Amino acid sequence: MRKFGLIGYPLSHSFSKKYFSEKFEKEGIQNCQFDLYEIPDISDFEKVLEENRELEGMSVTIPYKQDVIPFLNELDPACEIIGAVNCIQIRNGYRKGFNTDYIGFKESLKSWLGTDIPKALVLGTGGASKAVRIALKDLGVDFLSVSRRPRENQITYSDLKTNPAFLQKFPLIINTTPLGTFPKTDEMPDIPVEMLNKSNRVYDLVYNPSETTLMKACLDRGGKVKNGMDMLVLQAEAAWTIWNS
Ligand SMILES: NC(=O)c1ccc[n+]([C@@H]2O[C@H](COP(=O)([O-])OP(=O)(O)OC[C@H]3O[C@@H](n4cnc5c(N)ncnc54)[C@H](OP(=O)(O)O)[C@@H]3O)[C@@H](O)[C@H]2O)c1
Repeated sequence: MRKFGLIGYPLSHSFSKKYFSEKFEKEGIQNCQFDLYEIPDISDFEKVLEENRELEGMSVTIPYKQDVIPFLNELDPACEIIGAVNCIQIRNGYRKGFNTDYIGFKESLKSWLGTDIPKALVLGTGGASKAVRIALKDLGVDFLSVSRRPRENQITYSDLKTNPAFLQKFPLIINTTPLGTFPKTDEMPDIPVEMLNKSNRVYDLVYNPSETTLMKACLDRGGKVKNGMDMLVLQAEAAWTIWNS
C-alpha cells in the first residue's frame, strides 16, 4: 500500500483527505491511501514516519509549515525563500520540502489573468501571503502589502482609507487574510470598498464560501473576482505530481 497523509493540529476540517480519497476512487488509483496525522507536537513527526514506513508524501498544515523544516533533508528553492513547507516528498527516508501554495497561486493567477496582470495590493502578511508575494515577484508583478502591523515598505488599512487612490494604482486586490471564511461570512478586510470600480480585480484566497463579502463588494461595482478554490485544487494536484515524480 502506498501511503500519503497530512500532519497538522488540529485537523478537524481537512480538504486534502476528502480530495485525495475521492481522487483515488474517481481515477481508479489502486493501492493508495491518504490519512490524517493529528500531532500535538512537531517532535511526533519522526514517530509518524517510523510507524508508517510506506509513507511517500505528506501535506503539512497549520501550525507546522515552518516547524517541520528542521526535520527535512532538502528544500525546493522557492520553498527556501518562502520559509514555509506544505508538501514533503519522501524517497527511501530522504525528505524534500516544497511549497505548493506558491505553485497553486501562481498557476491559478496566470490562467485567470493571462500575461496582463495588474499591480497588486496583498492584504495580510501570514504564511499564504508569503507564497503569494514570491509568486508575484517571480511573475514580475509589482505589489504592495497591507498589514495591521506594517513592516518596511508595507502600508496599513488606515493608509488605504486616507488615500483610496491606492485601489486604482494597485487594481488587483489579493485577500490572504482569513476574513470572510465560513462561518463568519459577513466579515471582510477593512478596505474602502466604495472606491472599487470596474478596473478592479479581487482574488480572495478564501474558498468557503465561494463568494465572499469582499468579492461581492467588487462585483457590485463592476469588477471581476476569483475565489481560492482553483488554487486549492492546483496545490493538491501539484503535491500529487511531486509525490509521483
Ligand atoms: N485557497 C488556497 O489554496 C489557500 C492556501 C493557503 C491559505 N489559504 C487561506 O488563506 C488564509 C490565510 O492563511 P495563512 O496560512 O496565511 O494564515 P496566517 O499565517 O494566520 O496569516 C493570515 C494573515 O492575515 C492577517 N489577519 C489575520 N487575522 C486578521 C484580522 N482579524 N484582520 C485583519 N487581518 C488579519 C494577518 O496579517 P497582518 O498581521 O499583517 O495583518 C495574518 O498574518 C486562510 O483563510 C486560508 O484558508 C487558502
